[in-house]
Amino acid sequence: MKIDILSVVPRLMESFFEHSILKRAKDKELLEVNIFNVRDFTKYKHGQVDDYQFGGGAGLVMMIEPLVNAIETLQEKTSYDEIIFLTPDGELFNQKMANHLSLKKNLLLICGHYKGIDQRVRDHFITKEVSIGDYVLSGGELGAAVLADAIGRLIPGVLNDETSALTDSFQDDLLAPPVYTRPEEFREWKVPEILMSGNHSKIEDWRIEKSVEITKERRPDLLK
Ligand code: ADE
Repeated sequence: MKIDILSVVPRLMESFFEHSILKRAKDKELLEVNIFNVRDFTKYKHGQVDDYQFGGGAGLVMMIEPLVNAIETLQEKTSYDEIIFLTPDGELFNQKMANHLSLKKNLLLICGHYKGIDQRVRDHFITKEVSIGDYVLSGGELGAAVLADAIGRLIPGVLNDETSALTDSFQDDLLAPPVYTRPEEFREWKVPEILMSGNHSKIEDWRIEKSVEITKERRPDLLK
C-alpha cells in the first residue's frame, strides 16, 4: 500500500513516520509513505501557496494552482483509489473507515492550512473529505498522521501479533477488555483469577463480558 501526503509543513510529519509503527511497516516494505511539499509545486515567488479570499474576510486560502499542479504531477505516476482532504467539515473518521481504507492500494492525503483550500480543488479533485473529530486544528497534518497510523497498522504483517488489530477496541463495536501483565500481585492488587486459570474458553467469555460491561458504561451508543 502507498500513502502520499501533500502538506505545506512536511517536516511536521517526518519525525512521526520515522518513529512510529509505520517505520516498521516501511522497513518491511508493506507500506510506502511519501510526504510532498506543496511549495515545490507553485509558480509564484517565494514559494507562495496561499492568498486573500475573494469577497473579503479574515484568513488566507490555499490557491488552486499549486495544489492542482501537485495532484496532477503525482497522478502521472500513481492512480489513486481516493484523494482525501482532511477537514473539520468532513465525514467523521472511525474504525470502520480505517478498515475500509486499509484495503486500498494508493491513497493521496491533502492537508489544508489557513482558512482552507480553494473550493474548486474540492469540487474537481477530492473524492473523500475526512474529519478526525469535532474540533478545529491549525492544519490537516495531524489528521493525516492519524489516518496513516490507523490504516497502516491494519495492513497484514505490520503488527507482530496478527490478531492484535482484530481485538482492538471498536473492531466489533465493543471497547477492549482490560489487560494485565507481570507481576501477578502488586501492593495486594491481584490480577483477576480467571486470567491465571489456563482455561482459554472461560477467559474468552470473561473478556467478552468485560468488553460489553465497559462499552455499556462508557459508550452505550456503540451497542445498538
Ligand atoms: N483540519 C483542521 N481540523 C481538522 C479536523 N478536525 N480533522 C481533520 N482535518 C482537520
